[in-house]
Amino acid sequence: MAENLIISDGNKERQYQTLLPQIAALVAGETDAVANMANVAAALKQTFDFFWVGFYVVKGETLVLAPFQGPLACTRIRHGKGVCGTAWKEARTQIVPDVDQFPGHIACSSDSKSEIVVPLLKGDEVIGVLDIDSDRLNSFDETDARYLEEVCRMLV
Ligand code: SME
Repeated sequence: MAENLIISDGNKERQYQTLLPQIAALVAGETDAVANMANVAAALKQTFDFFWVGFYVVKGETLVLAPFQGPLACTRIRHGKGVCGTAWKEARTQIVPDVDQFPGHIACSSDSKSEIVVPLLKGDEVIGVLDIDSDRLNSFDETDARYLEEVCRMLV
């Protein structure tokens, strides 16, 4: 199973097209949100070897760390703070080519150079975010946004 998720030809579009049906199948048979977030984080990390992949879920006034793959991370992020809190506040995907240029970026690791954060939307309400960090500048674009938004729809 795990081996099937690794496609290392560098063609991002094709990697997502192969990965998405696998993620759809993974989450279709499971109703537990934590279990699904855990497997989705693992699938994305294993396919793309991103530096950090994980979720934060909305609990009251705060985003709280949820299943992730990668180094230790900040556990709580307030509404409107950092890239994650901004994705929550604006209810839309944030693509950050250079984290040092994002005002208020929260640096959980100095190795993180670029980032994408996709809100988990239940109707109009943000219930969490998918956060991916890269240790290279400029790793994310509209292709990532499009496919990752689809992944997030599968999870909600
Ligand atoms: N950089 C994020 C914080 C979370 S870590 O990257 C895992 C932010 O600015 O919201």
